[in-house]
Amino acid sequence: MSTNNAVVPNDLSAFWMPFTANRQFKKSPRMFVAAKDMHYTTSDGRQVLDGTAGLWCVNAGHARPKIVEAISKQAAELDYAPAFQMGHPKAFELANRLVDLTPDGLDHVLFTNSGSESVETALKVALAYQKVIGQGARSRLIGRERGYHGVNFGGISVGGIVTNRKMFGTLLTGVDHLPHTHNLAKNAFSKGLPEHGVDLADELERIVTLHDASTIAAVIVEPVAGSTGVLIPPPGYLQRLRDITKKHGILLIFDEVITGYGRLGTPFGADYFGVTPDILVTAKGLTNGVIPMGAVMVSKEIHDAFMQGPEHLIEFFHGYTYSGNPIASAAGLATLETYKDEGLLTRGADLAKVWEDGLHSLKGLPHVIDIRNIGLVGAVELEPIAGHPTKRAFAAFLAAFEQGLLIRTTGDIIALSPPLIVTESQIDQIITTLAGILKTLE
Ligand SMILES: Cc1ncc(COP(=O)(O)O)c(C=O)c1O
Repeated sequence: MSTNNAVVPNDLSAFWMPFTANRQFKKSPRMFVAAKDMHYTTSDGRQVLDGTAGLWCVNAGHARPKIVEAISKQAAELDYAPAFQMGHPKAFELANRLVDLTPDGLDHVLFTNSGSESVETALKVALAYQKVIGQGARSRLIGRERGYHGVNFGGISVGGIVTNRKMFGTLLTGVDHLPHTHNLAKNAFSKGLPEHGVDLADELERIVTLHDASTIAAVIVEPVAGSTGVLIPPPGYLQRLRDITKKHGILLIFDEVITGYGRLGTPFGADYFGVTPDILVTAKGLTNGVIPMGAVMVSKEIHDAFMQGPEHLIEFFHGYTYSGNPIASAAGLATLETYKDEGLLTRGADLAKVWEDGLHSLKGLPHVIDIRNIGLVGAVELEPIAGHPTKRAFAAFLAAFEQGLLIRTTGDIIALSPPLIVTESQIDQIITTLAGILKTLE
């Protein structure tokens, strides 16, 4: 299979790799040893075009000078400061910048180290907020089928991907799920938002009727479900969720770990859809994927509700050793600066049509049963091989890597999300390579 093993460690067995087919990988390793802008370098010296911004995170491309410089400077100046009862200026500066960037009304920021931690943080804020305002019976959380909210217990409980849930016991209790919005029969090959399915938001009313609003704390959804294979909501769907949550005193949480920081051609998915949640969950693109960091933006109303009682007492018993870590904060500031300097948070909108046309040119190729796109996100769904789900898409992934293109697959769906610095000719290269592979797939 791969010849990419010229520079590899002697023994690959010790590292139990995350979300990886370990035995397959270790028989035929795929190693990156360097990266610059849109390309990785493999251990056997090949260039691989990054069609996925790493894992949906390297939005400004690789090894960007401002970010590299900020990290090394910060490491030498202040490497670490305790996160609890102490501070350092850059975390406050970054929080202020984020508040400026997010939709009006989201005025406070909690820092974490990953998307998963951001999700747990958001769920805990939501539950605690309801308690603080005297609504302690509101303990239920509502997620969505096929949702991905990271891998921790709260996240997999509200998440809706069976493989991520089924091995881990009873999870959080008191969780319900909305139906997902994917509908191949009615919406296949939609360009941008699919037409059908806005009424699926009304399922929230059914859940409210079942449990009573007075027991429900929050609803969490990804504006566009990413990791499950790019499921795009119909027009009006998110607004309807907003209306129903507001009507019933339920908090709305947007998990924007993927849709945040320019992926849809707007700073956040909330901007794209014109719907502001009470809590906005981010990570990944916040630091361009370079240093682990997440940020959870919350409304002033939520924050202020906690600011009561004696002033020497901690208001919210939650946080991480590395919340607002100085090097991560420096990386975040330099990343936001890079986005601003290069107009990257809206560049996806400029490229969206070229991207859409390129992707939909794959219609009609063997096994392709749907193509979806929004901003600089795309998905090509393949008919699974009977009895061997995921095998066909995984074969496409391996072939793409051999041919110098990094794609991502989930189930039998190919997901694409290049860095926002991608050029039109690189989009062309992605599409042409993919077309060649699709023609030869079994
Ligand atoms: C929507 C969403 N939430 C949460 C996460 C988890 O983020 P992390 O892997 O940084 O924990 C992801 C990761 O892909 C995600 O897409």
